[in-house]
Amino acid sequence: GRRAVVTSGPTREAIDPVRFISNHSSGKMASAIADELSRRGAQVTVVSGPAAVYPSHPGVEVRKVVSAEEMYRAAVEEYGRGCDITVLCAAVADFTPASPSDTKIKKDGSRMTLELLPTKDIAAAIGSSRRPDGVIAGFALETDNARENALSKLRRKNMDMIVLNSMRDPGAGFGVDTNKVTVFRRDGSSQDIPLASKREVASAIVDNIEKLLEGGC
Ligand code: C5P
Repeated sequence: GRRAVVTSGPTREAIDPVRFISNHSSGKMASAIADELSRRGAQVTVVSGPAAVYPSHPGVEVRKVVSAEEMYRAAVEEYGRGCDITVLCAAVADFTPASPSDTKIKKDGSRMTLELLPTKDIAAAIGSSRRPDGVIAGFALETDNARENALSKLRRKNMDMIVLNSMRDPGAGFGVDTNKVTVFRRDGSSQDIPLASKREVASAIVDNIEKLLEGGC
């Protein structure tokens, strides 16, 4: 009976009508979490960028978006409709072209510079206007000072837990069907979730969300 919103996949930032900036996010981890929440009885809406994988559980509603700006608007709107569980799993582009061209950019052999502007941070926006109840979970992908960076994001974005993806371990990260993560909670406690299928990892993440909900955080 709980309402959940999950962001998923990459975003695409248009350079011109045929080109874009994006990333390798597949939507697999978010889809596994959305399916698990739905299996456990939540009413789930996924706001997804153009992903390779979408949720498969029939109860999950999918709202497709393309750009970081579109994802921001859809996610903030869904959160505003009332939300017990928010999982910010999307790999939102941090930058977007300042002035995308209406026509295909021609090459003329010379060097080209693309000016980029920062996008809005969905997690930070939701976290700063959050209700005190409910659980907000985020993800972090770090290449250095992983633990410190993840904990600082958890606090800065006012979330209840953050899932740190391992970048170094084989079988973890983008595109693959397995993952290895560490869950950090606001109180400083953490849990290592060993390498397992994304479905099993999703189940362990949702166990953490349930515990936080029961704890009335
Ligand atoms: O700052 P960083 O992108 O590493 O933070 C990761 C977390 O913030 C993830 O949960 C991601 O989905 C979320 N995020 C977001 N909107 C952005 C950037 C990140 O919701 N524009």
